[in-house]
This record gives sequence, C-alpha cells and structure tokens, in this order.
Amino acid sequence: MTGILLCHGGVGTRGRQLEDMSGIASKSKDEDPLKAVLNAVVLMEDDPRFNAGTGSVMRIDGSIQMDAAVSVPGKFGAVINIERVKNPVLVARDVMEKTPHIAISGSGGINFARRLGYPDYDPNTEKAMNAYKRMISALKEEDDEERFSVIRQMISQGIIDGPHDTVGAVSCVDGKFAAAVSTGGASPMMRGRVGDVPLVGAGIYCGEEGAVVATGLGEEIAKRLLCFRIYQRIGSEPLNRILMEEIENMEGKLAGVIAVTKSENGFFSNGSMGVDSCQF
Ligand code: GLY
Repeated sequence: MTGILLCHGGVGTRGRQLEDMSGIASKSKDEDPLKAVLNAVVLMEDDPRFNAGTGSVMRIDGSIQMDAAVSVPGKFGAVINIERVKNPVLVARDVMEKTPHIAISGSGGINFARRLGYPDYDPNTEKAMNAYKRMISALKEEDDEERFSVIRQMISQGIIDGPHDTVGAVSCVDGKFAAAVSTGGASPMMRGRVGDVPLVGAGIYCGEEGAVVATGLGEEIAKRLLCFRIYQRIGSEPLNRILMEEIENMEGKLAGVIAVTKSENGFFSNGSMGVDSCQF
C-alpha cells in the first residue's frame, strides 16, 4: 500500500503565528483515503485553535454557522450554515453517503444531524467571543461605507487577526482519492452567507486524477472555481507550478491550496498557511 495525506489549518494574513500542525497527518492516516481526510478534519474541528467546528468564528449577529464538504470521485456531500453540531464534516459525509442530495442547508442540516444522533453542541469559545467583540467595536468606529476598510486596516496593523479559515485535507491511497473541508467562514460576514467550502469545484474538488481543497476568501475562490481549475490542469504541468499560477491569479486575494495527484502533492498560498503531511 502507498498512501499520502496532506492537511492544512487555514490561510491567514502574512506573518501571523502559525498553529503547530505537527502530528495531525500521522495521527489521521488510514488505508481508506476517505477515513484519512475525515480523521484529519475532525481533529482540527475539535481543536479550538482552528476556525472550524469548535473555534469557529462568529457572524456579525453573534451566531456561529459552519460549512463543510467531503468528496470522493463521483460523490459529494456538504452541509451549509449548519449550527450546534460538533463535527460538521461528519454530517457532510452522511449527506454524501445516506441521502440522494449533494448538500443540505440551515435547519434542514441540523434536523438531519439530530435524526442521525448528532447531539446538540455549542462550538463557541472564549477566543471566538473575544474576536467577535473586537470586530463589533471596529464596525462601530466608522460610518457604513468605512466598515470593511476599518477591519482591513486593523488586520494589516496586526490589531486583530485576519481571516484564517477553513481546515482541509486531501489523500491518495493506491490511486484512490478523497478530500474534505470545514469552516466557520471568513469574518466579518452576515448570517446566512455561504463561502466556497460547500460549492463543488470552488473550495473542494475530487476526481479520478486527484484531490484539491482551498482556504481563503470564499467569495474570491468561488468566483474563480479555484479547485476545479487546478484539477483540470493536473498532468499538464508540474503540480507546484499549477498551484503557484492559480494562486497568482487570485490577484492578492487571500487564498491557499493543497492538492494530491497520482504522482505528486503540493501546496501554495499567498498568506501564512500551516500544512502537515504524512506518507505511508
Ligand atoms: N474559505 C472559507 C469561507 O470563505 O467561508
């Protein structure tokens, strides 16, 4: 058996302190690539340092809504704006494996999870609450037109953390691929806002030739269909060159990607991104 598991803890503003990712990949490896990516994403969802599951950032109204997706060639499952579950990525797996759908959103996702036995769980943390308070006071500082530029300025001055979001993993075992992603979203954002994670080809794509997941500003990633674009280019050039060119196409909008093919694996980002990998 030959396998590789590659995972990331989210891209953030350049220079931010990176989370220690070491051990996540080796603890998660599995001869089933789907199990491997789920293991890795669950570990990161349960770790409050990451913006996914426990530790997810809050929306402008103070709620926590999470997106997650999982894919193997020909199959896809996602939850959109799910609330009060511990591991959104496992519910996304159940959407893929137990329903005829590719995605379930909002209260539909919560009801589905409860019927499958996922208990009520509050993913809020003190860190998320403090970040929320800082965001709200920043939003109140200027008039409406200035809201987002104030936030951007605070991020660039290092007063608050920029968006570092979306944990993800890709795996290839004996030529079989899987991918999984999970996020609390990219702050600041409205309740109900949907990013790239649950959109096929945007924040995740997995086919017979490889698996790709993204992290960063969901709107920009989705507009470019980033993961599908990378997937379509697999084999045409060295993987690292493809990843670098596609991140350069983001024109400075925060983004990172990890990918695995039958013969290569790689990652690239235009901000700080923690990555861990394990070959087995
Ligand atoms: N990349 C995560 C999001 O924008 O929601």
